[in-house]
Amino acid sequence: MFAFFFLLFTALIYHVFAQVPGFFSIDCGGTEKFLDEIGLEWTPDKLVCGNAANISVGSENTKPYTTLRYFPADSRKYCYTLSVEARKRYLVRASFLYGNFDRNDVYPKFDISLGATHWSTIVISDADTLEVRELIFLATSPSISVCLSNASTGQPFISTLELRQFNGSMYYTDFETASYLSVSARINFGAVNNDSVRYPDDPFDRIWESDSIRKANFLVDVAAGTSKISTTTPINVNRDERPPEKVMQTAVVGRNGLLNYRLNLDGFPGFGWAFSYFSEIEDLGANESRKFRLKLPGYPDITKATVNIQENAQGRYRLYEPGFTNLSLPFVLTFSFGKTADSSRGPLLNAMEINKYLQINFGSPDAAVISGLTSQYPQADWAQEGGDPCLPVPWSWLQCSMDAQPRIFAILLSRKNLPGNIPSKISKLTGLVELWLDGNSLSGSIPDLSDCTNLRIIHLENNRLTGALPSFLTGLPNLAELSS
Ligand SMILES: *[C@@H]1O[C@H](CO)[C@@H](O)[C@H](O)[C@H]1NC(C)=O
Ligand SMILES: *[C@@H]1O[C@H](CO)[C@@H](O)[C@H](O)[C@H]1NC(C)=O
Ligand SMILES: *[C@@H]1O[C@H](CO)[C@@H](O)[C@H](O)[C@H]1NC(C)=O
Ligand SMILES: *[C@@H]1O[C@H](CO)[C@@H](O)[C@H](O)[C@H]1NC(C)=O
Ligand SMILES: *[C@@H]1O[C@H](CO)[C@@H](O)[C@H](O)[C@H]1NC(C)=O
Ligand SMILES: *[C@@H]1O[C@H](CO)[C@@H](O)[C@H](O)[C@H]1NC(C)=O
Repeated sequence: MFAFFFLLFTALIYHVFAQVPGFFSIDCGGTEKFLDEIGLEWTPDKLVCGNAANISVGSENTKPYTTLRYFPADSRKYCYTLSVEARKRYLVRASFLYGNFDRNDVYPKFDISLGATHWSTIVISDADTLEVRELIFLATSPSISVCLSNASTGQPFISTLELRQFNGSMYYTDFETASYLSVSARINFGAVNNDSVRYPDDPFDRIWESDSIRKANFLVDVAAGTSKISTTTPINVNRDERPPEKVMQTAVVGRNGLLNYRLNLDGFPGFGWAFSYFSEIEDLGANESRKFRLKLPGYPDITKATVNIQENAQGRYRLYEPGFTNLSLPFVLTFSFGKTADSSRGPLLNAMEINKYLQINFGSPDAAVISGLTSQYPQADWAQEGGDPCLPVPWSWLQCSMDAQPRIFAILLSRKNLPGNIPSKISKLTGLVELWLDGNSLSGSIPDLSDCTNLRIIHLENNRLTGALPSFLTGLPNLAELSS
């Protein structure tokens, strides 16, 4: 017996429960809906597959992270399907807190994918450390699937899954139809404490990590004379990526004329999107100036541009957001901002965000055809497995070719109680080699499958099919009789 599972959170759910518009937060393994302390509403995942569990160790007491759902360590994939609005950009965030939920002390390792695209390998190395993965994507269809698969140690699990919709052209890139952005660093410099800034300070609920927490996590301040500054003056952040005002109200300044950091970038080396967020939040006298240049070792061209925040942002307490939409970056990034000779003040930095391009895998060319078929069986568990039919692993009742864009090779639906006719759309699966439909309740005549020129094995026995065998079938070497 297979355990199956299917989740479709429809637009209806959003409206009925008055979520923040464009937000959806799933408390995996949870039992009830609740509002957390920052005002986000969490919905439990009511699944018929996988098992709910509670963490058994650790200091975490934020409710959504204390429960999780885990899945068998088998060769299948387990997917959450979420409704989205096509042509909008979203942040999808998945988090994983092991907490020794299975009291096994085996740290799980498994893969997470968005549709057919391998997103990340989750490697748990500590029972009490929250692993978080974030992707920014442009929705191109009404739903997305987030799938767990490829368990290599322990049991795959997930603690939370969140969707946050962006506004307007936030995070637009020229590459968005071919690549997702995988979030690598989003740092709030000069933060007043260790706490992250997120909703409601960030209306889009991005998580801006405090630079002091990042220091424990591979952000090294290499310069002397770095100091924190902050203001309570409102800041106009209403442009570009709209970083939260609270993040822009703090900064670091290089009192000795230099800011210099070394930063580990998860997911890199690779091509990335890297932006700095600046706002002048000190009062400069009429005879003073703040001008500086970015220096990235190995990128001589970049050094030329001079930042003058007040001039670039057209005033103080306003956002200026320079950056690179496509830059090759290493895993260990060293960067510095140095004041120019004619500047009276040292450099200032409010925030920074670095995302890695992740090439989209468009999956099996047969996905649309086979999804059209499975949607005819809304009651059948096997038809609801979610994600791409072939990637990263095929649905339990399919086999796929090994191509980069895999074709469906075999349909294995013997004895599944299939009613009705054999759908004629099967003829569009031109890579099909084996078709096993025996032992169902199929009736009517066999559709024209003559386009399936690779078909070699067909089993239709023990159904209620009528008529003579079509001529295109009679030449097949492995043809079972219609009845036996
Ligand atoms: C998790 O803990 C809650 C509260 O103590 C309890 O009601 C629930 O049954 C537990 N769930 C599991 C799967 O053990
Ligand atoms: C996941 O497992 C499948 C089947 O074993 C394999 O083909 C695929 O390469 C694996 N993916 C990754 C990312 O390891
Ligand atoms: C997003 O845009 C809509 C329409 O312009 C606006 O009403 C809404 O306030 C914006 N949301 C945020 C968080 O800025
Ligand atoms: C902030 O985080 C650092 C690194 O984890 C830790 O050493 C420090 O004690 C924390 N400070 C506070 C006030 O919690
Ligand atoms: C970034 O630039 C590289 C080198 O020019 C190019 O190959 C790549 O397609 C660009 N875009 C992305 C998303 O990597
Ligand atoms: C700017 O002017 C103030 C007061 O007039 C003076 O104290 C200060 O030294 C001057 N700073 C520079 C860099 O010239």
